[in-house]
Amino acid sequence: MAVSSVRVPGKVNLALCVAPRRADGYHELVTVFQAVSLHEEITALARQDAEIGLQMTGEGSEELPCDQSNLAVRAARLLRERYSRPDLGVDLRVRKQVPMAGGMAGGSADAAGVLLACSQAWQLGAGSSELSGIAAELGSDVPFLLFGGNAVGTGRGERLRAMPALGRLEWVFALAPRGLSTPSVYQRFDELVERGVLVPNTELSKRSLDALCSGDAAQVAPELRNDLQPAALELYPELAATLEAGLFAGALAAVLCGSGPTCAFLCTDADQADRLAAALATAPEVRGTRRAHGPVPGPEVL
Ligand code: C5P
Repeated sequence: MAVSSVRVPGKVNLALCVAPRRADGYHELVTVFQAVSLHEEITALARQDAEIGLQMTGEGSEELPCDQSNLAVRAARLLRERYSRPDLGVDLRVRKQVPMAGGMAGGSADAAGVLLACSQAWQLGAGSSELSGIAAELGSDVPFLLFGGNAVGTGRGERLRAMPALGRLEWVFALAPRGLSTPSVYQRFDELVERGVLVPNTELSKRSLDALCSGDAAQVAPELRNDLQPAALELYPELAATLEAGLFAGALAAVLCGSGPTCAFLCTDADQADRLAAALATAPEVRGTRRAHGPVPGPEVL
């Protein structure tokens, strides 16, 4: 029986520039993704029947349904549908490290890993352009998780251009006790635009882009940007104190991950990041901290 295991990183957005809502409900983005060293490990074990089973362990897994609503199961179903192979079944095992519902694309990483592991376990011979097409149907962030490194995402975030993956940035991530729903953060963004509080502008200068991809923390820090942050802070005001606590404790810069609520802190070096992670762990609205670095490569076959 064929089996395949892969590990897939999570992500942070170094820049997330958001345009007004499109007619299809999505927002046009210009975003700079960076893959970071918190990984999901996905194993696909081909079955003799057509069942798709899922077991999850690790970060937040006890709160996740393992039924057809799970993006990992949807990824396996969509893959076999696209290859007209409803007969294929699989047992999926996912070991999670990326915070759940935190804006770091853990669910998207699971979906990306399932596409890769299943295409191997089922011996479909899927190429990377086929997989990224299916990935984009599953979610805006899924194609980047097949990609890794640093990349600029446009469209919904699914159209990617690789950027140099220079240097090594040291990150601390502060996890929040509750999640934030991505659609409600985007909806609040729309309301802020309607109220005239935010003026959407997706311009990202070449100078900013070069700085963000330089791998030099001092150059990256002033350019970090997340247009969803004001909306997320309205929905979860305590996050402002978390961001401030990290800056007070010495982070070079603080930014919300994606639609939040995980807060990312950029540090000068690994020692400082270790100290910051320890200091922030006791802050009031912090459930825990994680250390990571980036950029890291995309999926690795284990
Ligand atoms: O693509 P994905 O399923 O991850 O998106 C989740 C939700 O986030 C969408 O339903 C939409 O409300 C919002 N979204 C958006 N614009 C994007 C990406 C996501 O409005 N570019």
